[in-house]
Amino acid sequence: MKKIIHLSDLHIGHKECGERFRLIIGGISRTCLPSSDYIVVITGDIADNAFHPEQYEEAIAGIISLEESGYRVLVVPGNHDYGTGILGNRKFVGQFKQKFFHDRRISYPKVDLIDEFAFIGLDSTAWELNWHDRFFSEGEIGKTQLSRLVRLMRRPEVAASRKIVYLHHHPFDFKLAMQLKDSEELKVIIENQVEMLLFGHYHRDEESALKIYHGTWGIPRCYNAGSSTHKNGETGFQWIINTEEKDPSADFNAKFI
Ligand SMILES: [Fe+2]
Repeated sequence: MKKIIHLSDLHIGHKECGERFRLIIGGISRTCLPSSDYIVVITGDIADNAFHPEQYEEAIAGIISLEESGYRVLVVPGNHDYGTGILGNRKFVGQFKQKFFHDRRISYPKVDLIDEFAFIGLDSTAWELNWHDRFFSEGEIGKTQLSRLVRLMRRPEVAASRKIVYLHHHPFDFKLAMQLKDSEELKVIIENQVEMLLFGHYHRDEESALKIYHGTWGIPRCYNAGSSTHKNGETGFQWIINTEEKDPSADFNAKFI
């Protein structure tokens, strides 16, 4: 694989977001060839409301069509994949694993070794689903997952790989009721240790419209894809990231929609 297609916050089920995802899939299939050169990474909020199972089904149908065209697709859950976005339910944690990975026993960090890369997917939402803080849209990786991440980074096959971390919540930009609560703990583990950090979650048009944070925490490439399907007309990207180039200036927004 040579390139990454980074999508986020598809919010399938919300207004025309499902149709826009189909347009994105069409754009990818027509222009990102050969498919074996690409990995598609989707950083959460794939469905808009987990309480509506048909939204999961529509999302999975789209992902299957990408896979049938030869693309490897990696996903992590966002707060909307575990509920409404502000009210979650723990039952959706297992459901997400079953639907998207066909295995409820998968644990996070989820690592996929592909060529010289280690893709490390984090769940930044599940730790938030206990009774006292399952409201709002904040994220937390949690102590258990963070300790697993430390051990994972030391595994020889991971240590020797080019590491890409992807998660839903925005690790840098603090907004009330939306931020990643243990971002400082994450920073200690991955600072200067990984070459790419991909995320979403913030897609309202506020201060940082471009949503590029290269160099933060000593990580050369940091992208927020916003809402790739432009939920409610908000900012979003379909980043095409060329891993063969050290310089991220060759990366671009594909503008499939
Ligand atoms: Fe979102």
